[in-house]
Amino acid sequence: MGVPVLHRLALNESPYPPLPSVRKAMQQAVAEAHRYPQFYPDELAERIAEWCRVAPDSVAVGSGSVGVALQLLQAVMEPGATMVHAWRTFDAYPLLATMVGAHAVPVALSPEGHQNLDALLAALDHGTRVVVVCNPHNPTGSRVAVDALSAFLRRVPRHVTVLLDEAYVEFAGDADPSDTPAFLAAHPNVLVLRTFSKAYGLAALRIGYGLGAPALVERIRRQQLPFGINAVATAAVKASLRADSELRLRVDTIVTERERLRHELVDLGWHVRPGYANSVWLAAPDPVDEGAAALTDARVLTRHYPGEGLRVTVGDRRANDTVLAALAGLRAPARGESLSARGEPVPGAPR
Ligand SMILES: Cc1ncc(COP(=O)(O)O)c(C=O)c1O
Repeated sequence: MGVPVLHRLALNESPYPPLPSVRKAMQQAVAEAHRYPQFYPDELAERIAEWCRVAPDSVAVGSGSVGVALQLLQAVMEPGATMVHAWRTFDAYPLLATMVGAHAVPVALSPEGHQNLDALLAALDHGTRVVVVCNPHNPTGSRVAVDALSAFLRRVPRHVTVLLDEAYVEFAGDADPSDTPAFLAAHPNVLVLRTFSKAYGLAALRIGYGLGAPALVERIRRQQLPFGINAVATAAVKASLRADSELRLRVDTIVTERERLRHELVDLGWHVRPGYANSVWLAAPDPVDEGAAALTDARVLTRHYPGEGLRVTVGDRRANDTVLAALAGLRAPARGESLSARGEPVPGAPR
């Protein structure tokens, strides 16, 4: 039998289990498990729409945000069409493209870990149906500035749907829900993808949603599996929305820990750029392979891309201290003074 894992920091999960109120709602739903859920999840879509301050016909619900992404591809792809995305990115995207008989076209990230919007645009052609922008980006945590995103969206041809993956938006601290209806109206070819798996800590329950113009959302909803959204997960999401302010405090704690982790890693000699998701990204030429080995020895699971990088999910304080202790002995080659010494501002600090 393998050595037991101490901290699971490999999948950008929340370190927190469901709140007592959410657990209670799930238990009540379990007692009704002999009943089917709604044929289509209209009630949940309405509740999410109210919370996001958009019209109910602007919301599509799916089995995790990855499920909504698949529904989008099923709706807009044709065999042989292409989907353009940055690489690296969330591993599921090329898999989803293959599932619908499409070709994934990877476009390299910049050396600083940013999506190269000009290169993404240059890769679009008459056969492209979808381009993915992940904001904040997985695995690097980089984010696309509002102005750059607007300029990009203006240049994407209308036959291409933009999948704007905001799985980590709550950790970026700058989402203004009052802007969403105007944004969706201005961009009928954009689907904003969100999830209850990350900030809301319900990864096991598989609920995500897409926000888009009604015509696009209607096409996505046509791909909805009947009875496909389970009742226990629906109850948990509704209870989480009622506990929104409590859950936001957890997000604030994770953001504070992310900044502490980054600054302490910088002070240890690692060159960690600001990140806006619930993770930190260590990149080569820093000693990422040695770091991965040290973390494995410390019984910490992280996401290791050999020779390239190491994505460490922000855990609770104890987990983060274990990460710092494991990485402390591995100083990267000096390439400048420490970030905190330069007094750089702390991005995404809790509001
Ligand atoms: C960028 C990104 N999008 C989507 C997902 C999938 O989330 P969900 O659990 O909602 O399917 C992940 C999960 O790690 C992710 O990193």
